[in-house]
Amino acid sequence: MYLNKEEEKMLNGEKGVVPQRLMRLLVRLGDLYGAEKMLPVGSVQVAGVSFKSIAEPGRDFLEDYAQLGAKVVVPTFLNPAGMDMEEWEVMKFPKKFAEEQIRIMNAFRSMGIIMSASCTPYLIGNLPHFREHIAWSESSAVSFSNSVIGARTNREGGPSALAAGICGVTPDYGLHRDENRHPNFHVKVSVPLESSADFGALGWFVGKVVKDKIPYFTGINRADTDELKALGAAMAASGAVALYHVEGMTPEAASARKENLQPIDFGDNELKETFAKLNQGKDPDLIVVGCPHASLKEIMTVARKLEGKKLTKPFWVCTSSTMKDAARRLGFAKMIEDAGGKLVADTCMVVAPIEAMGFKTTAVNSGKAASYLPGHCKQNVMYGRLDDLIALAMK
Ligand code: F3S
Repeated sequence: MYLNKEEEKMLNGEKGVVPQRLMRLLVRLGDLYGAEKMLPVGSVQVAGVSFKSIAEPGRDFLEDYAQLGAKVVVPTFLNPAGMDMEEWEVMKFPKKFAEEQIRIMNAFRSMGIIMSASCTPYLIGNLPHFREHIAWSESSAVSFSNSVIGARTNREGGPSALAAGICGVTPDYGLHRDENRHPNFHVKVSVPLESSADFGALGWFVGKVVKDKIPYFTGINRADTDELKALGAAMAASGAVALYHVEGMTPEAASARKENLQPIDFGDNELKETFAKLNQGKDPDLIVVGCPHASLKEIMTVARKLEGKKLTKPFWVCTSSTMKDAARRLGFAKMIEDAGGKLVADTCMVVAPIEAMGFKTTAVNSGKAASYLPGHCKQNVMYGRLDDLIALAMK
């Protein structure tokens, strides 16, 4: 693989031991996938942040690198952590868990990483441009940036993303290349989709069929940005979709090659059946929205719907700390809290230790959360639209 002078210096150890080790990792990855060169990246997003996901070995790995003086050279953002970093005590997160999470965050901080802890970096100051090469990890963020923005990233693992942050480059293979961005499936949608839960159900259904391939959607006549993020998140979770196209909506749909696509139909029956499959539990003890992390618009919608209502069950709106701060200033946080809900920053229902906090059945409107909650958090899952979830929280 061709390396330029700077990259050679890193590999030879002239820039220190950390860039050398991580450049070796990137070169090996590139060789494995047939990359011929490295690409400079505009930004990085590192997954593997929650202590629940990486445990002691991951913590030790990060602390070792921090002690060796690892520093990122491009803007590098974090995936959600295992708890709200500001309000974990009020929310009764286990103390031992919190101590471990704080150690992990301190290691990241010492590397110069931006402590954003969100799966929606594109909403909080890290918005790549069309065709920009980036190295992101979290599957819904990867899907959104590739599909809705038209930026270019593979689905990086935690170490390869960290390597990209520290070396400033990523190997040129996979979704960085034009020829690998064409669709394999044609999904014909023949039912109106009216909420994030509908888009999540579509994504869950399609991800199961296409696995890691690229779907091309027709028949989606309207969708807002939040619904597209819900669609991509669900496909990335039930399958491993990192890129999709929507006719008339996403930037590479028009130029995508459309010959010989395998057909998939999604109509009223499929929508109803998917809801029924995902909605298996009853009597939820936790209701959560904000997967992927809620935008300001989603927080505003929830706040307005909760005005004057009294919730009787824990109701979380997961988001980034940036959005939480904005929601506080704009009065939305108070509206949610007055009704008995909680804006939860830096974490989510999947990477927080909700099973250790005593929750057994969680109601969500996210296809991604519905995919992961049984396995990752031992939860029974209820699936519904936002209005259904608010009604459940008032029972
Ligand atoms: Fe984000 Fe957690 Fe969902 S990381 S996409 S809110 S499972």
